[in-house]
Amino acid sequence: MNPKYRKTVIAGNWKMNLLPSQLKDYADALKELLGREHPCEAVLCVPALMAIPMLRYLRGSRVGLGVQDVSAEEGGAFTGEISAAQLKDAGVKYVIVGHSERRAYHGETDELIGRKLRRVLEAGMTPILCVGETLSQRDAGAETDVVRTQLKLALAGLDAAAMRKTVVAYEPVWAIGTGRTAAPAQAQDMCREIRAAIRESYDARTARAVTVQYGGSMNPANAAELLAQPDVDGGLIGGASLDPKKFYQIVEAAKI
Ligand code: PGA
Repeated sequence: MNPKYRKTVIAGNWKMNLLPSQLKDYADALKELLGREHPCEAVLCVPALMAIPMLRYLRGSRVGLGVQDVSAEEGGAFTGEISAAQLKDAGVKYVIVGHSERRAYHGETDELIGRKLRRVLEAGMTPILCVGETLSQRDAGAETDVVRTQLKLALAGLDAAAMRKTVVAYEPVWAIGTGRTAAPAQAQDMCREIRAAIRESYDARTARAVTVQYGGSMNPANAAELLAQPDVDGGLIGGASLDPKKFYQIVEAAKI
């Protein structure tokens, strides 16, 4: 718990990068850098195929393991899919749902994302729900409406206890993989807005407890300033998480 009364979570999102044969070197390097104590929760969301070997390589560290997607179905005849129960049984703790790349390239709707989020919670894992506007939506001044609608639809009917177990990641699409990071004030404004939306739908205690991350071109040079914002409780890191040294430096930047 930080002074904000909620967990700071730095999560790497490897996307479709790195190979199984590279896991051990990555894990060894990260363990060496991080040691046993770090100032916040560190999580790596790897391709699902790599979850089991990576867990083994990370043994002896406090790094949590996550993946980047899950099926909305419980189990059975769904070729190519992976269920929440399978991920949980493998030792996975975090699951990203609703990443903008899945929304854009796989046609994921807020309704589908909401079903995935429930599966993750029911299985006893932590969902990282991604929300965020495109550049044209921001240029049109619609970013707040877009993010509020994404939240409302994905979280519909979720009770307060489940909400408190959910991590929300604000990821403006124009900042993802572009090297164009949101200004700290922009990240703060939207993370505060997300917390306000949670307060309106639930209560002040729930809003205070939810971890709200920023994601989009976060790197060792800009992390400290972003993470110092009062409503920014961590980061979802793509490109920079592929390098254990950079990922470590961002985890260290969460020191407050
Ligand atoms: P990026 O990706 O850090 O490479 O911009 C962030 C994300 O997509 O989660």
